[in-house]
Amino acid sequence: MKVDVLLGLQWGDEGKGKVVDVLTPKYDAVTRFQGGPNAGHTLEFEGQKYVLRSIPSGIFQGGKMNIIGNGVVLDPVLFRQEAEALAASGHDITRQLYISKKAHLIMPTHRVLDAAYEAAKGDAKVGTTGKGIGPTYTDKVSRNGLRVGDLLSGFDEKYAIAKRKHEVILRGLGYEYDIAALEQEWLEALDYLKRFPLIDSEYVVNELLREGKSVLAEGAQGTMLDVDFGSYPFVTSSNTICAGACSGLGVAPRNIGEVYGIFKAYCTRVGAGPFPTELFDETGERLCELGHEFGAVTGRRRRCGWIDLVALKYAVMLNGVTQLIMMKSDVLDGFDTVKACVAYKINGEETDRFPFDITEGIEPVYVEMPGWKTPLSKMTSESEFPEEFNAYISFLEEELGVPIKIVSVGPDREQTILRYED
Ligand code: GDP
Ligand code: IMO
Ligand code: MG
Repeated sequence: MKVDVLLGLQWGDEGKGKVVDVLTPKYDAVTRFQGGPNAGHTLEFEGQKYVLRSIPSGIFQGGKMNIIGNGVVLDPVLFRQEAEALAASGHDITRQLYISKKAHLIMPTHRVLDAAYEAAKGDAKVGTTGKGIGPTYTDKVSRNGLRVGDLLSGFDEKYAIAKRKHEVILRGLGYEYDIAALEQEWLEALDYLKRFPLIDSEYVVNELLREGKSVLAEGAQGTMLDVDFGSYPFVTSSNTICAGACSGLGVAPRNIGEVYGIFKAYCTRVGAGPFPTELFDETGERLCELGHEFGAVTGRRRRCGWIDLVALKYAVMLNGVTQLIMMKSDVLDGFDTVKACVAYKINGEETDRFPFDITEGIEPVYVEMPGWKTPLSKMTSESEFPEEFNAYISFLEEELGVPIKIVSVGPDREQTILRYED
């Protein structure tokens, strides 16, 4: 068997959590391969809403194995809060969740460094989630990181060395901080972490494949936040694209199967950075309100705009997407017309290639289509779709060259419509 990968094609928050939960019954194991608690993946079922940050979204479906892979950065404090909240709501995950020994640990000083670097950037700040993601990946790459497996031997000395390095940097930046309370909580949370099986996840995942078991890899963030191909430097610090699943799990490229690319029927972005189709008018406001576009974790307002097919085509190419999933179609229900950006006009010239720099000077070229003016959220099959909505889907499929196999019409698990049943 192969690993199927589900990943965001926009700037994150596409609805990955919801769809991973929906797809999990088809799989034996669900894994996370990059990112950390900067993610906020929302699931809704049986009238309950859950937000997951480090724990894979397969955790609610009947005892399936869930694995936090080596490419993830883990904050023990936030992980503990997340796991304990699940336990309090009746979901004991201790026998279902496995953690890679090679995942890197987010230290209290990483969070402080995140804030200090942002402060030092002034107006150019990235608008990070403040969870220490960038500094932790920086330490990983510069070979100063601390890994989950270090908990098993020589931890105290390794921690002291890493912390001392951070203190020197923070002193150099003249940044005031106090981590005493956080550090105590962090050290206690490390003990909590040891309740979970700490594994060589690359062996476990490859053995599952050899045994004929199916594995789903759940991306975090989105392609436009990828550290190499996103809107750099306004990106996250990991490879969010499909290739990240190979390095973040230890799976060979030839063992990747389906690549599910997930996108909203419009587009959002949270934090700073360029966003060519952003709407600053009433329409943008309306999308935000109807889509409840506020961060799952930070509560920050998400910026809204029309769908950007230049960026989406780029994302389809980078990830080798084999099937598309369109989310939040219901949010566009009431619009008289809907727009899709099909090209960028730069210095008077039109292009459908995603440029090196999208900071300024980009004028989106739109195609405008009739809206469907029909509520989609109670529909249960494709046969109920209004003609205009079918036309929107066909237009997107044509432009992107990949079939849209799942359409989501509401936040609940049940509000998911499968097209082309396999
Ligand atoms: P993720 O980070 O990709 O998992 O996405 P988030 O959970 O951050 O954001 C997606 C939001 O949209 C969540 O509040 C979901 O409950 C909600 N959602 C998901 N699918 C739909 C949908 O089809 N329609 C509507 N109205 N909301 C949806
Ligand atoms: P999910 O998995 C949306 C954004 C932040 C900021 C930039 C860098 O829920 O889709 P970081 O803390 O990673 O250093 O912040 O990336 N960002 C996200 N935006 N969804 C996410 O995750 C995000 N994770 C990070 O807002 O602009
Ligand atoms: Mg999210």
